[in-house]
Amino acid sequence: MRPDKAREITRKSRKIHGWFSDRAAMLFAWLDEIQQMNHITGDIFEIGCHHGKSTTLLGALVQPHGEKLGVCDLFGDQDANISGSGQGDLEKFRRNMILAGDGLKISIHQMNSMDLSVDEIGRDYRFFHIDGGHDCEETLSDLRLAADSTIKKGIIVLDDPFRSEWPGVTEALIRFLDEYGQFSAIAVGFNKLILVRREYSDLYVPEIQRAENHKAYKLDYPWHIKELPFNGDPLQIFFIPSFLTKKNLAYFARKYVQKRS
Ligand SMILES: C[S@@+](CC[C@H](N)C(=O)[O-])C[C@H]1O[C@@H](n2cnc3c(N)ncnc32)[C@H](O)[C@@H]1O
Repeated sequence: MRPDKAREITRKSRKIHGWFSDRAAMLFAWLDEIQQMNHITGDIFEIGCHHGKSTTLLGALVQPHGEKLGVCDLFGDQDANISGSGQGDLEKFRRNMILAGDGLKISIHQMNSMDLSVDEIGRDYRFFHIDGGHDCEETLSDLRLAADSTIKKGIIVLDDPFRSEWPGVTEALIRFLDEYGQFSAIAVGFNKLILVRREYSDLYVPEIQRAENHKAYKLDYPWHIKELPFNGDPLQIFFIPSFLTKKNLAYFARKYVQKRS
């Protein structure tokens, strides 16, 4: 998806309550664009929708002819939300999904994602977003499902990978990478981590490193990019250097630039 279209959607969905930042939306649009460039087609799935903030963007990535969107959330069954992550609401979700455009068909699985199987959802996903239950067993189960249902060149995007308030997500990620050795984490930033099958990482990594893309998707200054090893593979890391987060002259200059962009 081109950056201007992504900006239009984030503008429209600004009032939806949720945790999906504008920068994460730009990252999703950019990943989709890389898939379009490489003629990677397939369906899109999300675990954990809450009121549909991230789902709206994902819905807009679905190509009208042939691709589908599937989602899973506990919605009304919040007693089963053991990690206390978000609070899905089906009525609000349906209302907000109008923003994704007419004619979008959504398969809604209102259930615990740990009970969802590949037989139920199929194995044709090019983009799989995991943002549901945040404890280790829930996240590990979601990662296994995503790995078993994505196409070879597809991607899995994991929310909250390295946050101190959600250690279970990090633990699940490490256990998953040990269990599914064919996957590697290729990039992290904007609170999302991207996983692909290692043999296809070259489709994504050079594009992720390209500075013109950072600029086009407004993921450049104040963000910087560096590469460090993670679990034995090189990981591209988007971050804001600490000298830009201190309340000095550079900090106020950044705020000023951000306000005007
Ligand atoms: C953090 S919120 C999702 C936020 C949303 N993606 C956004 O960007 O605004 C997590 C969601 O996962 C759902 N959830 C929690 N545990 C779940 C589980 N075990 N199975 C399915 N959904 C779950 C919650 O109901 C909630 O809607």
